[in-house]
Amino acid sequence: MRKIISPSILAADFSNLKAACEMINRSKADWIHIDVMDGVFVPNISFGFPVLEAITKHCTKLIDVHIMIVHPEKYVKRFAEAGAEMLTFHYEAAENPGEVIELIRRQGIKVGITINPDVPVAALRPYIDKVDMVLLMSVFAGYGGQKFIEESYDRLKELKDMVDELNPACMIQVDGGVSIHNAKKLFDHGANVLVAGSAVFNAPDPEEMIQSMLKV
Ligand code: DX5
Ligand code: ZN
Repeated sequence: MRKIISPSILAADFSNLKAACEMINRSKADWIHIDVMDGVFVPNISFGFPVLEAITKHCTKLIDVHIMIVHPEKYVKRFAEAGAEMLTFHYEAAENPGEVIELIRRQGIKVGITINPDVPVAALRPYIDKVDMVLLMSVFAGYGGQKFIEESYDRLKELKDMVDELNPACMIQVDGGVSIHNAKKLFDHGANVLVAGSAVFNAPDPEEMIQSMLKV
């Protein structure tokens, strides 16, 4: 599978999101990662629909939305209308993950499911053949700039085996503490899509950093 970088806008300068979008448009990144946090499922609040709409207006890359919110089922339609092309929700936040998957599908967009580092990978087994992507969190969802959790490699391997067995077309995304230093190992362990926030936006040349991460 093709390697993809999804720069996380959470680490961009929020007073100039248009410039961040334009950088991503020019870059070799195929996706843009948008983190929505509700202050309930996670302790932090990021932004909501108006900001998402503003970003989608300026961005030409695939709109990859990661929702860290309770009751994801309530908002699927609004995220699709706001421009989400891949919508990834937390397994832990959903009363009925199968139903959320179905709702996202009905919007005609791609569906992703994700788990925090304390949830066994095996919990995803019933859903692997129903989603386009699994996002493996390599930090606890809530904040950018956290340190990558090393145990994530073992979890990634376990997930990769499960995906190979049940749905080889399913993409695997890793999010949290991803940088030029671990990108190769993550791709080698079976990740296809790497989310990178601070590694990209804190780099002296973000565009070049994206390219370097793809070339590892
Ligand atoms: C964390 C978010 C991440 C975050 C990653 O809850 O899901 O997408 O932006 O930031 P970095 O790459 O700085 O760890
Ligand atoms: Zn994210």
